[in-house]
Amino acid sequence: MSEAYRVAVLASGSGSNFQAILDRLHAEPASPVRVTRLVASQGGIGAIERAEAAGVPVSTLPGGSGGGPEGEEGFLLRTLREADADLVVLAGYLRLVPARVVRACWGRMINIHPALLPAFGGEGMYGARVHRAVLQRGARVTGVTVHFVDEAYDRGPIVAQWPVPVLEDDTPEALAARVLAVEHRVLPAVVDALSRDEVALDESGVVRWRRPWFPGARFRAEDDSVPLGIAPPGHGPGGS
Ligand code: GRF
Repeated sequence: MSEAYRVAVLASGSGSNFQAILDRLHAEPASPVRVTRLVASQGGIGAIERAEAAGVPVSTLPGGSGGGPEGEEGFLLRTLREADADLVVLAGYLRLVPARVVRACWGRMINIHPALLPAFGGEGMYGARVHRAVLQRGARVTGVTVHFVDEAYDRGPIVAQWPVPVLEDDTPEALAARVLAVEHRVLPAVVDALSRDEVALDESGVVRWRRPWFPGARFRAEDDSVPLGIAPPGHGPGGS
């Protein structure tokens, strides 16, 4: 196989998006993606168990949040340098990444957000809060966004999005579950595309795709059981 594409994942919670990367890419011999480090924002989270089960080394932000003697910024810079990461993925990472770390990883750090940015994003908009806000506002469509990370929460250049319809009797929990199932397809699809140089951020900060984007393109037939809500062009009723 050609050279590995080294990925570090940062997580704060259950790590189901991290697991999707492990299952669809890291464990897939045909993929160049190898997850070389999980960075956990705190101990005792589900993502750590998943990393241990997959044999991925874990670094936990010391002191809960302070980053220990070297500080959060120093800890992250050192850990990501040690991981020798080609790509850094924020997969349910709830802390703002320090500006120096963002600059060091510019164009090489992505985040997944469970709504269609720039709507329903920003500080404090995570987890159930996002889906509650979508329902309260009466939005008919929500979705998933993957974007490059800049100094603000949920603001950097958008790499990919996928819509999820809001249903008449949705609860925040039901909506979150449908969005999460789509996250598990979109995030690995974007990591896969980045690893193959099919998408990148250009010098002027614009995302350039070298092929049409849709998340079903790369994955196995059984993945079609995951409801994408709206079929990609040419792949569903009425598609052309
Ligand atoms: C996901 O909805 C993700 O988009 C958001 O936090 C949730 C994390 O889920 N940022 P998990 O930890 O990947 O299971």
